[in-house]
Amino acid sequence: MNPYEPQVVDVIQNIEETPTIYTLRLRFRDKARQQAYRFAPGQFNMLYLYGVGEIPISIVSDPADEFVIDHTIRSVGRVTKAMSKLKAGDQIGLRGPFGRGWPLQHALGKDVILVTGGLGCAPVVSVIRYVIRRRDLFGRLVIMQGVKHADDLIWRDQYEQWETLHDTQVILAASEQPSAQWPWHSGHVTDLMHTAVFNPNNAIAMMCGPEAMMNAAIDPLLREGLNEHDLWLSMERNMHCAIGLCGHCQYGANFICKQGPVFPFAEIKTLFGEKGF
Ligand SMILES: Cc1cc2nc3c(=O)[nH]c(=O)nc-3n(C[C@H](O)[C@H](O)[C@H](O)COP(=O)(O)OP(=O)(O)OC[C@H]3O[C@@H](n4cnc5c(N)ncnc54)[C@H](O)[C@@H]3O)c2cc1C
Ligand code: FES
Repeated sequence: MNPYEPQVVDVIQNIEETPTIYTLRLRFRDKARQQAYRFAPGQFNMLYLYGVGEIPISIVSDPADEFVIDHTIRSVGRVTKAMSKLKAGDQIGLRGPFGRGWPLQHALGKDVILVTGGLGCAPVVSVIRYVIRRRDLFGRLVIMQGVKHADDLIWRDQYEQWETLHDTQVILAASEQPSAQWPWHSGHVTDLMHTAVFNPNNAIAMMCGPEAMMNAAIDPLLREGLNEHDLWLSMERNMHCAIGLCGHCQYGANFICKQGPVFPFAEIKTLFGEKGF
């Protein structure tokens, strides 16, 4: 597939998750292309709304699902707001998948800790689904999700179902005005790192969301004894080409679209949290 050329995909469904978050369920118009499409959790596609613009969006479906490709999107600006109006039967363009995904082979047999904030949960939801479908291949699963307002939590039913599974811990926190309908913690999810139960000598952590949140979660995990080579972060920057040519997503010596978006902390620790990078 020519990485510059968007391929036509049909909108199968546009699912409203909250008033500002929606999931676009897409399928390549060309059946052979749909069958040949493969991705790893953590990779992203460039979605192109004809006449409006093109944006990077993570893939949230399970790679074993051969029939549709899901993207969960928050309406923040020109393209995301225009895409929110798409209906079943509409068409958009898709290039991808791009980038390095999560190190799932490296995670086999280990406890898996997922720390996410806001819509940062989108790229790790594909990991949650991946681990749950192949439960015997992994150790404990710890899912930590922080949101600002209780209403920002999407897939609430799924979190409730995940916390009933064996060897699975779900830690949810809302930092602003949680109500009686919010049965979990109030405050920042990073204040609850000590409540996560895992074996630091045989664990891997994957994080996604605002960089300040990831920064706050790193220290407690390292203090628990987690090796920095077992700590992985998904980074976001503005993107144009998505194939390491235009330089828009440069991060030190790396291009986030190509060497990332998922990085081992050890690889970026000298830059991470530095102003201007
Ligand atoms: C690898 C990668 C994966 C992503 N995955 C998802 C995803 O799964 N779901 C999702 O909703 N979004 C995701 N994003 C962010 C998404 O690409 C931006 O929200 C989108 O490009 C904004 O386009 P727009 O035209 O709607 O907004 P614009 O009109 O361009 O901008 C509107 C506002 O959003 C801010 N903004 C723009 N881009 C970003 C960004 N990358 N991060 C933070 N703020 C931004 C701008 O500063 C501005 O304040 C991802 C970004 C990257 C790089
Ligand atoms: S988007 Fe062009 S180099 Fe990454």
